[in-house]
Amino acid sequence: MQQEDVFTQAGVVGAGFMGSGIAESTARAGIPVVLYEPEEASLKRSRDRIDSSLERAVARGKLEAGEADALRARITWTTDLKALDGSDIVIEAIVEDPQVKGKVFREIDGWLAPEALLASNTSSIPIAQLASWTRHPERVLGLHFFSPVPVMKLIEVVVALDTSADAVLRAQAFAAAIGKTAIRTKDRSGFIVNMLLVPYLVAAMRMYEEGFASREDIDTGMKLGAAHPMGPLTLCDFIGLDVLYAICDSLYEEFKRPEYAPPPLLKRMVVSGHHGRKSGRGFYEYAPVSAAEVVGVVA
Ligand code: 3HC
Repeated sequence: MQQEDVFTQAGVVGAGFMGSGIAESTARAGIPVVLYEPEEASLKRSRDRIDSSLERAVARGKLEAGEADALRARITWTTDLKALDGSDIVIEAIVEDPQVKGKVFREIDGWLAPEALLASNTSSIPIAQLASWTRHPERVLGLHFFSPVPVMKLIEVVVALDTSADAVLRAQAFAAAIGKTAIRTKDRSGFIVNMLLVPYLVAAMRMYEEGFASREDIDTGMKLGAAHPMGPLTLCDFIGLDVLYAICDSLYEEFKRPEYAPPPLLKRMVVSGHHGRKSGRGFYEYAPVSAAEVVGVVA
């Protein structure tokens, strides 16, 4: 990188809901993005998803039509991981599997310039574990985005055992460059937000499971009684029950506190394929929608 807080290119690994959202937010800030996914079909879905999000932003008066075209032109979709070489920062947003992520980290670390940042959007895997696959653990950290990425203003900057102070400062500069607010957190399961959010969501699931109240009343209670934009069960469906299960599991594994333990109903729903909005069924039922319509749902 020429200058500490100038980002001339960003790479994103994984073009699912989160990866596409990260690419969109980055390109929106004027930074060219190379977005990788091994399958052409997934890249097409990513293009459709971003197009749909941009149309929505234009329709809502958040973006000029000309700006939307310029933003799209800043994104290069590729099936060649090596095309991310030359990036000042690479953000990985693929499946929550430490082995799969680790191998990607090892490969990228092999050719990415050592001063470039290597970040993961993981919400449940220790950053130290991913850093252990690399020769440059000092440039590895977590950048945890929130769904829907183009709308949510927060990034958690996750500082692992070997992350350098310089990497943290540059990660914060990146967050600022793309118009997000960065908060710093230790490399502990859940970071700040999920550590607070998950016990609340788990409590709502248990309340529903025990027949304490209807799903609608639980959600309406928190929407109208606490001014949350979505009730907890709707939010669970929005995040994805499989994703939530993985987060609960990782929090429980780390801290062994009952408030993080995935409720029995959550496990049954996940194994039955009821993954929330993206699968058409979770705590609620959803009409089949194209991926592009579910703007920003966590993959
Ligand atoms: N680009 C830019 N802005 C957009 C946009 C886009 N593509 N799409 C929508 N917006 C803007 C709208 O203009 C609107 O802004 P305004 O309030 O200033 O007018 C705002 O976003 C809300 O959009 P809509 O009115 O179209 O939609 P809703 O009112 O239905 O809100 C929602 C949708 C933003 C998803 C809202 O329901 C919400 O905030 N839900 C909670 C989301 C949440 O909690 N996310 C965190 C999940 S946890 C997580 O991700 C961590 C992981 O590890 C699990």
